[in-house]
Order: sequence, then structure tokens, then C-alpha cells
Amino acid sequence: MRYLIATELVKKSRIDQLDFNNIPLGKTFTDHMFVCDYKDGAWHDPRVEPLHLVPTHPAAMALHYGQAIFEGMKAYKNLEGQPILFRPEMNAKRLNKSADRMGMPGFPEELFVEGLKHLVATDQAWIPTDEGSALYLRPFMFADEAFIGMRAATSFKFIIIASPSSPIFSKRIKLKAEPQYIRAAHGGTGEAKAAGNYAAAIKPTEIAKNEGYDQVLWLDAHDHKYIQEVGTMNIFFQIGDDFITPKLDGSILAGITRDSVIQLLRSEGYRIKEKLISIDEIKEAHVTGQLKEAFGTGTAVGITFIEGIAIGNDYLKLSEDNPVAKNIKEKLHQIKTGKIEDKFNWVVEVNEALV
Ligand SMILES: Cc1ncc(COP(=O)(O)O)c(C=O)c1O
Repeated sequence: MRYLIATELVKKSRIDQLDFNNIPLGKTFTDHMFVCDYKDGAWHDPRVEPLHLVPTHPAAMALHYGQAIFEGMKAYKNLEGQPILFRPEMNAKRLNKSADRMGMPGFPEELFVEGLKHLVATDQAWIPTDEGSALYLRPFMFADEAFIGMRAATSFKFIIIASPSSPIFSKRIKLKAEPQYIRAAHGGTGEAKAAGNYAAAIKPTEIAKNEGYDQVLWLDAHDHKYIQEVGTMNIFFQIGDDFITPKLDGSILAGITRDSVIQLLRSEGYRIKEKLISIDEIKEAHVTGQLKEAFGTGTAVGITFIEGIAIGNDYLKLSEDNPVAKNIKEKLHQIKTGKIEDKFNWVVEVNEALV
């Protein structure tokens, strides 16, 4: 199905105010946004328009009952200077999974990808091209109906905004296995990219940072024993010759980087198991010298190496040598930025002439 996406361009672009060498992270937004409204049981008026404030009624249901979900992804330019997206249909599917769990309407997946393409084509001049930089894209949906009462809202907004970032270079991070707070329980919303999941993670993350760690390593809600994920990343370990990562059990986010790394590792001949991983298994592998690598995966930096993990009074210091993960990180980055052949068909080109 072809969607008609109306476009209203800014009278004057703000791009000449942007210093591409020094873009404040998460604070700079492109000229335009994509917007679509849900009313009377259907999505209406998909459009690209100048970035603007979104009027909010004080009774908007997202503010009270938390029907708010989001996605995150990046656009790059390939060697020919054409804008490209990485597996956007996966984000569309995940948004709809989140919407379903949160009692929100699904958004047509094709329109999700078309909306992204239109916004990226419109603001293509904002895609930074320095190594490590990108145009971050943030699709999100929230309940904007003004109503006090506990039920599913009947009107929603779906919006995509875009934010360029200067090169982000990842450092090795220190994790704290969280002994008290939890992120998600079985039957909860852990698998959804719901705003409330992040709200609940803020305080424990601040505590961990004040104690000198970079991120929280979340453990299961029942036993505080099984590893879930890290901040905004999924986690992988190499034990002996094999890789393991927590299986998708409904309480962790199905990361698109996670899925891509699993496929890349398999394509290089590594064995990888998605399974229940206990903190004791990791401790044991560390003691016996079998724990070779540990890394996080996520859109922000692809692969992030882990320096060590604090578990109670123990600190498991990990090797600085991450040959396999370094190789996979580089390959993933080269595919995402269109520098090497994409035999997985992950990259989606954006027609620059869409606007
Ligand atoms: C809680 C959580 N886990 C994992 C991830 C990694 O997901 P992805 O690889 O799709 O960025 C993210 C980031 O979106 C996240 O917020």
C-alpha cells in the first residue's frame, strides 16, 4: 500500500547553526518531524512538518497512566552519500509488540518505514558523516486523550524526531549486578519498550553511578540470580569457545543489535546459545578462567566491552582482549554504514528525492 505523506518544509533551515564537530548529545534536533494522529479507530494524516511543540492537555492520559512507548535507531550515509537505515522493519515490529502489551493501537509497519524514509530524506543534510557519528531517530507513540479514568485511551500521536550526534566512542564499562531493585518480572512489561520501564530504572542506575559503576546489570525478579540485560543493552558472554546470551523470556528487550550479533557470530562459525544464565555460572567461569569476553549490544554504540562486574562484594575483572567481539563490532558497523557488502539484506536505502 502506498501512503500519501504530506510535507510542509521549514521556511528557513537551522542547519547553519549546527557545529558538526561539536553536537550536544541528545539536545539537537533537525528541522522537521513526522506526525500521525490516531482517532476514531484509525491513523490519520501522516505528515512531515517543521519541528514544533506538541500541545498537551493536562489530563493527557500518557502523563497519568503511562501509555507511552518508543523506538531508537540510526541513519547513516553510505559511500555514495545516500542515506541508509538499518533493519527499520524490526523497529516497526517491536513498536507494535510494545503497543500491544500497553493496550495501544498498532501502527502500520509500512507507514512506519515510509515515515522514517520521508523524515530522513527531508533532513538528510543533518546526517553527520564523521566516523562514529549518526543521525539518531526516535519514533514514539503516546496517549494524548484528555481523560481522567483508568482505561485504554482512544486518541494517540505517533511522532518521529531526529537528533544528530557527534562521534560516540565507547569505553569499557563497569557493571553492578543489582541486588535489590528489579527491572522486569514475568508477566510484566519488560519486553516492551515502554517509557515506564526506563522511569523505574533511573533511581537504581543513579545509585550505581554514585558508587562508581557505569550501568546496572539487571537480575530476575524472583531469585535475583538470573541475568537479564544492562541499562539499554543486551549482554553476551564468551565461555570457552562458545557464546551465551540470556534468552528472550518476555522480561528483556529483544534488541535488534542482539539479533544482528547472533547472526554475525553464527555466520563466522561460532556457537551461540540463548539460555537462562545464572550469576553463579558467570562467577564459576571467571574462577576457572573460561570467561573470555563479555559485552553489551545496543543501537547507541553497537558493541560495548565490559571491564568488570560487581556481584555483591566480588568484582569480576574481565580481560581487555576482546578479539571476537572487536571483529563483530567492526563488521556490524561497516554493514550499518554501507562500507561492506550487506549479505544479510539489513540495510534499507532512502531515496534522496522523496521530498
Ligand atoms: C532495555 C534495553 N535493552 C536492550 C536494548 C538494545 O536494543 P537495540 O539493539 O535494538 O538498540 C535497548 C535499546 O534500545 C534497551 O533500551
